[in-house]
Amino acid sequence: MSRGGIERLDGADKVSGRALYVDDLPAPKAWFGATVRSPVAHGRLLAIDRDPAFDWSRAVIVTARDIPGDNVCALIEDDQPVLADRVVRHIQEPVALVAAPDPELARAAAAAVRLRIEPLPAALTIEDSLAGVAKLHGVGNVFKEIRVRKGDSGGAPRGVTHWVGGRYQTGRVEQLYIENQGALAIPEQNGRLTVHVSAQCPYYVQKALERCLGRGPDRVHTIQAVTGGGFGGKEEYPSLVAAHAALLALATERPVKLIYDRLEDLAATTKRHPMVATIRAGVDRDGRLLRWEVDAMLDGGAYVTLSPVVLSRLAIHAGGPYRCEQIDIRARVIGTNTPPSGAYRGFGVPQICFAVESHLDKIARVVGRDPAEVRKLNLLERGDSTATSHQLDQEVAAGDVFESVLHQGDYRTRQRAAASFNRRSRTHRRGVGLSCWFHGAGFTGNGEVTLASKVALRVGRDGRVRIATANTEIGQGTRTVFPQLVARTLGVALGDVELEVPDTAKVPDSGPTVASRTVMVVGGLLVQAAEALRARVLAEAARRRRLEPNTLSVRDGWIVCGRRRLARFRTVAQALARRRGGLDVETQYQAPPQVVWDEKSYRGAAYATYGWAACLAEVEIELATYTPKVLRLVTASDIGTVIHPVLASGQVEGGTVQALGYALLEEVIMRDGQMANAQLTNYLIPTPLDSPPIMVIFRPHPYAGGPFGAKGMGELPIDGPAPAITNAIAAALGIEIPEIPATPERLWGWSAAVPAARQPAS
Ligand code: MOS
Repeated sequence: MSRGGIERLDGADKVSGRALYVDDLPAPKAWFGATVRSPVAHGRLLAIDRDPAFDWSRAVIVTARDIPGDNVCALIEDDQPVLADRVVRHIQEPVALVAAPDPELARAAAAAVRLRIEPLPAALTIEDSLAGVAKLHGVGNVFKEIRVRKGDSGGAPRGVTHWVGGRYQTGRVEQLYIENQGALAIPEQNGRLTVHVSAQCPYYVQKALERCLGRGPDRVHTIQAVTGGGFGGKEEYPSLVAAHAALLALATERPVKLIYDRLEDLAATTKRHPMVATIRAGVDRDGRLLRWEVDAMLDGGAYVTLSPVVLSRLAIHAGGPYRCEQIDIRARVIGTNTPPSGAYRGFGVPQICFAVESHLDKIARVVGRDPAEVRKLNLLERGDSTATSHQLDQEVAAGDVFESVLHQGDYRTRQRAAASFNRRSRTHRRGVGLSCWFHGAGFTGNGEVTLASKVALRVGRDGRVRIATANTEIGQGTRTVFPQLVARTLGVALGDVELEVPDTAKVPDSGPTVASRTVMVVGGLLVQAAEALRARVLAEAARRRRLEPNTLSVRDGWIVCGRRRLARFRTVAQALARRRGGLDVETQYQAPPQVVWDEKSYRGAAYATYGWAACLAEVEIELATYTPKVLRLVTASDIGTVIHPVLASGQVEGGTVQALGYALLEEVIMRDGQMANAQLTNYLIPTPLDSPPIMVIFRPHPYAGGPFGAKGMGELPIDGPAPAITNAIAAALGIEIPEIPATPERLWGWSAAVPAARQPAS
């Protein structure tokens, strides 16, 4: 497609302030909601008392007893209540809701609710939980265990010269969308409830609302408001916010706005799962992987939510983009009495990628070879198989993206420059680091078949084509790329195409906006629908002119026969729509033939295709303070055909900077089961000053099953830059980095253990 891509279609409204986020939506006579949360990590809820000193005539309170349907936030296991009842399982768990005519009064009302809770022993860490300090779930508080095995997992393979072990740890991190969570619920005259919500997945919210309100789609519907970022943070949590706003709207019989402020949002909502993983690799003297063992544990928090699928992503990607014939991966997610962990861009892969890529460098050190050489020796190629025994018969871009960062990043030259810098400098150390990774596009295994996503194209009275999908704009560009794909397929101008509001009453369920699936899967369905629509309109034009349909095509909005313009596409579509009382084309997902997956054994094609990426990082550490500074990042990605280069580069840059935060800065500090730094003054994220120049390279290897050859790309950029950065720091200081974020304090501690690292080299 064009070099830079078309202008982003939601851009002008956003920069001019015309876009209405949920808190901006006019709602006359609305009341404001607030949430009463548990101050205790685990306890028996004995009573919910109202402070008699407060004037309750101007506020309402809602508890679990007021829930008309099931008290579950419907998702995978349905174990999380909409409001805690009898027992609380984590600090910040919603227990009651209040609403009042203004936000201050609502806050005062929330403060006037007294919870009587008898504390119970709380399992605040994975260790506590495995030791049985508290009972949260099933056997041993294990939410889910996955085993991925390949080859003979019995005896040691021949040729192993070194066994290399390591233990890696990653912390909780926050998605930090710009707009906090929020919802507005409006009871309509006809008894129907309309819920506007800042969210990625209107149908997830809708299903949760139907369940807890005990209403069908005729009596409640969900509209995605303009949403200021998601990154996974608005995948599952908005169901809770929307349900709370809806319950308050029913109780007050008025519109109710429930908008979180930043402190509440940080303290209460989901974070990326913390992980601890051990890896043991059997390698030959060149560093060839002969056996690969991983044992990884995630902290899932108090409820199952999406943890099983996050774990699944982790397990499938735990072999990295490397060839190995003997693999044994064990992955578990453990419940604890902490706020539930949840979706965050990358979905389990950034965690395990840090471990895998740190370990590749460790192997290189052990066998005494360069980390680039060890990776090259092991990178997957066409014909190889992944950890899940998925035989890769498509092009495998791992080698291409990796060579590309080595070349464009001047790897050898920069490595030599760093070595010579380190010989001269008494105050600073420099290093160069690498990483390589992959990410499955779309839902795992049979997931897309189960979702059975549907999209529709509808020709309106004006002949314009309306795109109806439930997939949302969350800043990544859906509202630009969908019209672009449809207009291009039809052969019409962008202005002839428009997008339906993501309202569950108006759009079919095209699945959630997650899992790097929007362009590849849903965009693919739209292209199919557009092809079908074009064929119908061309057939009509051919019928009128008594021509063969296959002699006609569409160019610049005109139906043409050779060079002759016959009629405007829009005019014929309009006439056809009028004559038939509407013109709708629907398409539904069909599995590509090569996707054979066995959920029980975790074997087969885990994804229809994968994105591939590599990163080179150059860093400098000031020895007086151990402050790392990233000087330069080079990334190369294969996302198939790049549909919109500007938006795609933006996705890569954004993900890369998020990964920089993950590597160096971002750390949710938990104290007694509670986020101790729930504010942006001490939860540090990268600013432009922390962000180095980022070279973004695309190496497109088109995927035949995607629209115009595109693959998914949402998550890939965030998965792997963190270990490139920490590998660079490790190389600079001559240390190992077993944990992120690699803060100055930690770097100092690890360096202190390696005296040589603190001495200026002679
Ligand atoms: Mo996501 S982390 O697939 O929204």
